[in-house]
Amino acid sequence: MLCLGIESSCDETGLALVRDGTVLGNVLTSQVNIHALFGGVVPELASREHLRHIGPLFDVLVKQTGTSPAELDCVAVARGPGLLGSLLVGMAFAKSLALGLDIPLLGVNHLHAHLLVSGLTAELRYPSLGLLVSGGHTNLYRISSPWQFEQLGRTLDDAAGEAFDKVGKEIGIAYPGGRMMDRLASLGKADPALFTRPYLDNDNLDFSFSGLKTSAVQWLNKNLPDLPKRILEPGQEKPGPLADFCASFSLAVADTLCIKTQRALDRHPEIKRLIVAGGVAANSVLREKLERLMEKRGGQAIFPPPVLCTDNAVMIAYAGCILARAGYYHALDLEPIPRGRKIPDDMLQKV
Ligand code: KG4
Ligand code: ZN
Repeated sequence: MLCLGIESSCDETGLALVRDGTVLGNVLTSQVNIHALFGGVVPELASREHLRHIGPLFDVLVKQTGTSPAELDCVAVARGPGLLGSLLVGMAFAKSLALGLDIPLLGVNHLHAHLLVSGLTAELRYPSLGLLVSGGHTNLYRISSPWQFEQLGRTLDDAAGEAFDKVGKEIGIAYPGGRMMDRLASLGKADPALFTRPYLDNDNLDFSFSGLKTSAVQWLNKNLPDLPKRILEPGQEKPGPLADFCASFSLAVADTLCIKTQRALDRHPEIKRLIVAGGVAANSVLREKLERLMEKRGGQAIFPPPVLCTDNAVMIAYAGCILARAGYYHALDLEPIPRGRKIPDDMLQKV
C-alpha cells in the first residue's frame, strides 16, 4: 500500500510517501519565519504560502523517491482540525490527485495521526490511552483501534504547550519557548511547592493551564522583576533562579498531566499502554514521569521519535496506509473541518 500524505493544517506544508511501515520520502516547508513577523500565524498568508509550495513540493518528492504518481494506491490528507483556508489547499490538491489517478481519498484526523505515527517505530496495541500535548491541544483519548478514538478529556483554556510558550515569552525566550524552558529546567532545582497543580479538584479528565500560567507570570513579576529585556539565545542557558523557576513550572505542568493520565488509567484498568504525542511529548520531565508511571503499573509509555512529534506529513501518510488497508476511504465531496468543529465519523468502507 503506497500512500501519499498531505499536511497543510497550519503553517507547515508537508508531503510524504509511506509504503506500509516504511517512509520512502518526506518533504516539508515551514512558514514560521513569515508569521514570526506578525507574532502569530496569519491565516490568509498561511493559505497563500501553502498554495505556492504544494505543487513544487510534490514534484520534489516524486523526483527524490523515483516514484511515478501512477504507482500511488491512495492519497491521504489532513482534514482538520486546522485553519480552514490552509486545509482547503491540501484538500483540493488531494482530491485532484485522487480523481486524476482514480485512487481512494482519505481525510485523516490530524490529532489522531499525531498519536498513530508511533506505530512506525513501536508496536501499538489496543486499547491504548492517548495523551496528545501540543501547542494547540491537550487531549486524552481511549483508543480502541486506529479508527476508534473516544475523547476522554481536553483543555478548557490554554494547551500545555501554549502555557510553556506564554511563560517563555515573559522570560525572554523566542516563540515557541517550550524546548528552551525544558533545557533551562534541566539546569535548575524544582521546588514542588512553588505552584499548585491546577484543576485537579474535580472528578473529570479535563485540563486547565491558564491559571498556572498566570500565577507563574505573577511570581516572575514579584520575584524576578529585573529580568533583562532581551531574547535569550540557545546556548545562554545557565543555572540560577531562572532555571529553578523553569524547573518548578515544568514540574507543575508534568505533574498535572501525569495525575490526570493516572486518573484515566484507573478508570480504564484494561488499558496497559500509553501513547504520548505532540510537541510537549519531547519534554524531558514529562517523559520521565510518564515512563515511571507506566512502569509502576506494569505497562508501557510510547513516544514518537522527536522529529515526528511536531507537524509532518509522514503521520498523515502512515495513518492513510492503515485506514486504506482496512478498506476505508472518503467520498470526493469530503469537507475540511476547521478548529472548534467536531470531525464527523463519515468514512466509507469497501465490502
Ligand atoms: O505539536 P506541536 O508542533 O504544536 C502544534 O502543532 O500545536 O508542538 C509545538 C509545541 C510548542 O508549544 C512548543 O513550545 C512545545 O510544543 N514544545 C515543548 C518542548 N518541545 C516543544 N514544550 C515543552 N518541552 C519541550 N521539550
Ligand atoms: Zn499538530
